[in-house]
Amino acid sequence: MNQKNYLIIGGTGGIGQAIVKHLIEMAAYNQKNDNQSGKIFATYHKSEPDFIADNLYWLPMDVSNEHSIEQAITEIKQQTTHIGWVINCVGLLHTPYNQPEKALRQLETEFFLQNMQINALASLLIAKHIKPLLAKADRTENKPAIFATISARVGSISDNQLGGWYSYRMSKAALNMGMKNLSIEWARSLKDVCVVVMQPGTVNTQLSAPFQGNVADGNLFSPAFSAECLLEVLGNMTAEQSGNFVDWAGEFIPW
Ligand SMILES: NC(=O)c1ccc[n+]([C@@H]2O[C@H](COP(=O)([O-])OP(=O)(O)OC[C@H]3O[C@@H](n4cnc5c(N)ncnc54)[C@H](OP(=O)(O)O)[C@@H]3O)[C@@H](O)[C@H]2O)c1
Repeated sequence: MNQKNYLIIGGTGGIGQAIVKHLIEMAAYNQKNDNQSGKIFATYHKSEPDFIADNLYWLPMDVSNEHSIEQAITEIKQQTTHIGWVINCVGLLHTPYNQPEKALRQLETEFFLQNMQINALASLLIAKHIKPLLAKADRTENKPAIFATISARVGSISDNQLGGWYSYRMSKAALNMGMKNLSIEWARSLKDVCVVVMQPGTVNTQLSAPFQGNVADGNLFSPAFSAECLLEVLGNMTAEQSGNFVDWAGEFIPW
């Protein structure tokens, strides 16, 4: 049986970092109980984080650059033949120069394309290069390999009541379609893998910080709480559930 290795993309973001920390705690617990634990590969973008741990390997990756994605995965291939879970936690909602649009007059081509590149295209490019490592993941105990991306409920077309946020909403809807498509292709060509897009809740990170004003008490999650919930949901997913949009509580979200 292979030990399960993880790849967390965007391991320095609010949710990504909380997922990495949770996996490190799980690995430490397993080691203490004489169970072997696998490697945790995590990627950073602008700067290498200063936290280190046994079994944690940091790699640079800019998801807007296919060469950078390929290079990071090549480095992983030098250290292992298999990855059991891939979780892409990268996302863009605002930049120092652009806020999400309240109205069409605020739409700007460059910001729109940046959203599409980072929120929608990246997961497809990651999937393209990571497939050989997922193919060799262990599938004992009926547990599928996982290819998860953090999406957002606002990417649900049927749930859209408020409008606005054209670039973000459209990029998350495009991500969702891309992952649905991938789940269909991989159901034919990759044994026992679950492709899933996830809503993490409203989480207290720099991404949501400017928009937390209307969040009701108790509805703003800590990154640690969201990470724990997301990992638990992923641990219960089956290969038959591949191609779904699921929230932090395990509830399926309509497209
Ligand atoms: N927070 C929420 O309430 C909420 C709600 C719904 C959905 N989500 C989704 O959850 C995911 C995680 O969000 P978060 O709240 O944790 O946001 P966050 O703290 O802003 O993290 C986003 C991460 O994306 C990375 N990133 C941005 N551009 C990148 C690029 N070109 N290449 C590689 N990495 C890049 C950032 O790294 P650098 O800073 O180094 O660029 C950062 O690590 C996102 O997909 C977001 O849309 C969040």
